[in-house]
Amino acid sequence: MLNEKMEAALNKQINAELYSSYVYLAMAAHFHGLNLEGFANWMRIQAQEENMHAMKIFDFIYERGGNVRLMALEAPPNEWDSPLDAFQQSYEHERKISGMIDELVNLALDIKDHATWNFLQWFVAEQVEEEDNANRVVENLKLIGDNSAGLFMLDRELAQRQPEAEAGEDGGGE
Ligand code: FEO
Repeated sequence: MLNEKMEAALNKQINAELYSSYVYLAMAAHFHGLNLEGFANWMRIQAQEENMHAMKIFDFIYERGGNVRLMALEAPPNEWDSPLDAFQQSYEHERKISGMIDELVNLALDIKDHATWNFLQWFVAEQVEEEDNANRVVENLKLIGDNSAGLFMLDRELAQRQPEAEAGEDGGGE
């Protein structure tokens, strides 16, 4: 059975993950508008992953006898100064999400909720990957600078990103 405080915190995290999905979808739209289809592909897949993160928490809440309460989603930004600006903001956003996951882990420890603590470990590991994925593109874009051939090459590389297999019951794979 889920503790009330934990249930509320997990519901808040569902909102944060869905908002993340919304931000990445807005970035995908932005890149489509710039004809940077590889960048748009990367963002669309990221949006799908965020939706999967939200659903993972959604399912866990029910599995633990709690209730899901969906909340209003804030409107995402729609404009960025450059691809570097968008990816820097993605990286900052992921760092913020990592902090939220850490707070959830702290709460689980405080209230001795070992089942939720264990569940959250998947997210702890996932956030390492999420930050790294965004930061790698940030670093590539910094190297590219104003070189349009470099941007074209990176766009082709990001077009290769494929959706991750759905996480199984073991929670691995993303
Ligand atoms: Fe679900 Fe990118 O954190």
